[in-house]
Amino acid sequence: MERIRAAPDARHGPDCLPMTPTLITICDTCKREGWDPETDDRTDGERFAEKIEGKAEGFGSIQTRRHSCLMGCTHGCNVAIQAAGKLSYVLGRFEPTDEAAEGIVEYARLHAESKSGQVPFRSWPSAVRGHFVSRIPPAPGTGSPFS
Ligand code: FES
Repeated sequence: MERIRAAPDARHGPDCLPMTPTLITICDTCKREGWDPETDDRTDGERFAEKIEGKAEGFGSIQTRRHSCLMGCTHGCNVAIQAAGKLSYVLGRFEPTDEAAEGIVEYARLHAESKSGQVPFRSWPSAVRGHFVSRIPPAPGTGSPFS
């Protein structure tokens, strides 16, 4: 069962315009090279999900959920970033670090602010550069110029 988390938007305040929330899906079964079931009580994906969820706290424009396997197992840790009617992105090859989690949450915040989901390259947090795996246009009928 998927669990979607969203926190009240304490950082943007009540005067901000409502926006479509951006959803970060974190693979919680990713295991990086060297992961050892004998010594590691949690997967790398579970550790990464915990960090991303913590960094996303307080952003009403961002939701998170965990999902088991995004089919990118050879290049974990993997996440997907998506919102209704916008371009979606899959990113991978992350180590489950605070820096990577912060970069993903910042990118998701910019994705939420963007009408199309396209974030200008110059605004990309350094932690996400080189981690994009694929970009997926929104499904037809969502009113997006990309569908
Ligand atoms: S286990 Fe994470 S993508 Fe397959």
